[in-house]
Amino acid sequence: MLAGVPGAAGAQPPDAGAAGPLGLGRAATAEEIAALDIDVRPDGAGLPLGGGTVADGARVWDRACRACHGAEGEGGIAAPVVGRDPAARPPTVGNYWPYATTLYDYVYRAMPGNAPGTLTPDEVYGLVAWILNRNDIIDDEAVMNAATLPGVVMPARDRFMPDDRLESDAVR
Ligand code: HEC
Repeated sequence: MLAGVPGAAGAQPPDAGAAGPLGLGRAATAEEIAALDIDVRPDGAGLPLGGGTVADGARVWDRACRACHGAEGEGGIAAPVVGRDPAARPPTVGNYWPYATTLYDYVYRAMPGNAPGTLTPDEVYGLVAWILNRNDIIDDEAVMNAATLPGVVMPARDRFMPDDRLESDAVR
C-alpha cells in the first residue's frame, strides 16, 4: 500500500484483468514468450535440439558471415572471430570467451548482423562448430549439439574469476 504518500490514498494496484486498467494490451501468448526466451547458460541450459558439423558450418559461413567477418574469420568490416593470442586486440572467441555455449546464444540471437533471428538451430550449431574448429578448440569431425557443446573447454575459461570481495568499495 502507498499509505503516507501524498495523493496516493486509496490507490489501487493495476487491474490484472485481460485488458488492464486502461483497456490496452493483452497477455503475451506462450508462443510469443517462447520466441524471446532463447538465452543459453554456461552449463548448456536452454540449448535446443539439433546439431551441426564443422562442414555444415562452413557452408553457412560462406553464405551469411564471411562478407563481414572474412573468409576465415580473420575479420573485415566486423570483428575477427578467430585468434588464440591472449595479447591480440580486439579480443576474440578464441582468446577471450570463457564459455562455448555463449557462442550459440550470441550467434542465434544477434547474427548475421544484417538479419538476426534468421538462422535455424542446426545452422547455428554448424557455425559454432566451424568457429570453434578454426580456433583449434575442436577437431574437424566434431559434432556440436546440446550434449557436446557444454563440454567444450574454452582457452579463456580460467582467465576470469568471480569478484566476491564483499568488503571492497568496488562491489556495488
Ligand atoms: C552485416 C555484417 C555482419 C554479418 C553478415 C555477420 N556479422 Fe557477426 N558481427 C557483426 C558486428 C558489427 C559485430 C559486433 C562486433 C564488431 O563491432 O565488429 C559482430 C560480432 C560477431 C561475433 C562476436 C565477436 C566478438 O568476439 O566480439 C560473432 C561470434 C559473430 N559476429 C558471428 C557471426 C556469424 C556466425 C555470422 C554469420 C551467421 C555473422 N557474424 C554475420 C557484423 C556481422
